[in-house]
Amino acid sequence: MKKRILSVLLVIILMLGLSACGAKTDTNNSGNKGKTTVIKVAFNQQVTNPQYKALQEFSDKIYKRTNGAYKLDVYANELLGPQRESVELVQTGAIGMAVVSNSLIENFNKEFSVLGLPYLYDSKEHQNAVFKDKSIVGDLFKSTRDEGFEVLTSFHAGVRSVYSDKPVTKPADLKGLKIRIMESDTNVQMMKYMGGVGTPMAQSEVYTGVQSHIIDGGENNEIIYSNMKHFEVAKYYSYTLHLMIPDYLIINRDLYDSMSTENKTIFDEEIQNATDRELKIWAVDVKDAIKTAKDAGVIFSYPDINLFKAEVKPFHEKVTQNPEYKELYDKVKAKGETIKK
Ligand code: GCU
Repeated sequence: MKKRILSVLLVIILMLGLSACGAKTDTNNSGNKGKTTVIKVAFNQQVTNPQYKALQEFSDKIYKRTNGAYKLDVYANELLGPQRESVELVQTGAIGMAVVSNSLIENFNKEFSVLGLPYLYDSKEHQNAVFKDKSIVGDLFKSTRDEGFEVLTSFHAGVRSVYSDKPVTKPADLKGLKIRIMESDTNVQMMKYMGGVGTPMAQSEVYTGVQSHIIDGGENNEIIYSNMKHFEVAKYYSYTLHLMIPDYLIINRDLYDSMSTENKTIFDEEIQNATDRELKIWAVDVKDAIKTAKDAGVIFSYPDINLFKAEVKPFHEKVTQNPEYKELYDKVKAKGETIKK
């Protein structure tokens, strides 16, 4: 509650104190007529998260390469509110950027839901190849411009599995279990097909939600599970590996449009570098997260994921009844085949 009030206050201060697009100007000696546009970024995870590290590096790079014209100021730990609200802040221009899950963006364009289907990608290499392919995601990333923002890049966000106070070895084990999910209809349906009951809520509410038995568990990657100490309230992490869903760095449309072609090119190049860096940092940090959880007494288990895959197959079929979604789905699947070869 205290945190909530703080967030609201901070947002009000930001809105009062900023020029357009959440960007404020600093003075510097960089040769850019003394003006630096500082872009505020809403981030709902911790400063130890690979995405945060990649964003800091991105900020340093663009600052240097634009001669001090741009840098980022990343507000971690959901300080600017949950992801749902941070999208709104980007839309209105109260802040310039935010990192939000695909789940939130599907609320603006339903087609994104295809990219957030359970068991869609064969591997992180497959997912990475899909998001690097402009012929698959290019138009989609720009499709939210009428809503006031566009997607700059997608960050890998691990593979999500279920955790609770008992192991989940098969879909029937999820029966009646209220599992916290991210706030999207696709996630609600996903959990239903998997056998449980999906309860949408913000990430910051999960710990107390489990502790006070409002929910029975959550589903997330090992880094969040470990960093947010969810293992203290739910010590069985079952590798259902059901969801590999990207996070997006979104940017206010007017801010992006106001950049010179040269600076835009720098942004685009450096964001691709940051995307690759994040994937590498993730690979290292996830091992540390698993170790921390193991040391804390977490019991990891390995259910037969084919049982869960079979349950969600009708969900894929249902979503792809829409011809446009089917086209995107087929492109994603075809990309997977090229990776296998
Ligand atoms: C992951 C994901 C976030 C998301 C969070 C959640 O950490 O990267 O974008 O907000 O899970 O479960 O809410």
